[in-house]
Amino acid sequence: GRGGPLAGKHVVVSAGGTQEPLDPVRYLTNRSSGKQGFALAQAALDLGARVSLVVGATAAALPTPTGAERTDVETAAQMAEAVLRLCREADVLIMAAAVADFRPRQVRAHKIKKEREAPQLELEPTPDILLAVAEERRHLGRPAVVVGFAAESEKLRENAQDKLERKSLSMIVANDISAPDAGFAVDTNRVLLLLPGGVVEPLPLMTKGEVAAAVLARVVGLLAEGAQ
Ligand code: C5P
Repeated sequence: GRGGPLAGKHVVVSAGGTQEPLDPVRYLTNRSSGKQGFALAQAALDLGARVSLVVGATAAALPTPTGAERTDVETAAQMAEAVLRLCREADVLIMAAAVADFRPRQVRAHKIKKEREAPQLELEPTPDILLAVAEERRHLGRPAVVVGFAAESEKLRENAQDKLERKSLSMIVANDISAPDAGFAVDTNRVLLLLPGGVVEPLPLMTKGEVAAAVLARVVGLLAEGAQ
């Protein structure tokens, strides 16, 4: 087999956005490019891991990193199903996907007609995948390491800290999407890594590949500590 610090480890990475249908032709989605998630999958492969990549909608078609096992999904519910199934045998989960937080309460069977009055959209929350993973992890003891992302346009550190605790994460990668050189669409990212115990590590402006390598280096350390 392959060598490297993640040899023998199974890493699940989610990437891209989800699409939440309204009727047969329309959906709600977001600006996720999928680039950071694909870079994370490549970085995990480079360290010798077996990688499962769960992909939602990406702004442009991205080539599957060589050696990754790819599953394509559309909705948050489909992503939840794929991620939870893969996590039963995984050592690490990295949720880089921009999962929709809300979806239309009902999916119309037929295309909504143009009427004199615009229809009111009623939304409901999607299942929170990381909360479901945290629940299963309490019973199964795996994945040993779970990494989340937080894309925030305000109060970056406070909101990310809150998500780290609420979703029982080993680490959260916090992204200030109001900065022009970070977040969606661009090839660079400026992130803070937050770990339990109030540890905050700001990383300089980096390519998404460099951010991925930095995140995976922390994952190797967390696995060695037997982190939960
Ligand atoms: O709560 P928020 O969407 O801001 O949290 C972001 C983190 O939670 C990301 O890692 C994202 O992949 C994950 N998430 C999830 N299930 C959802 C929404 C977000 O796992 N329904």
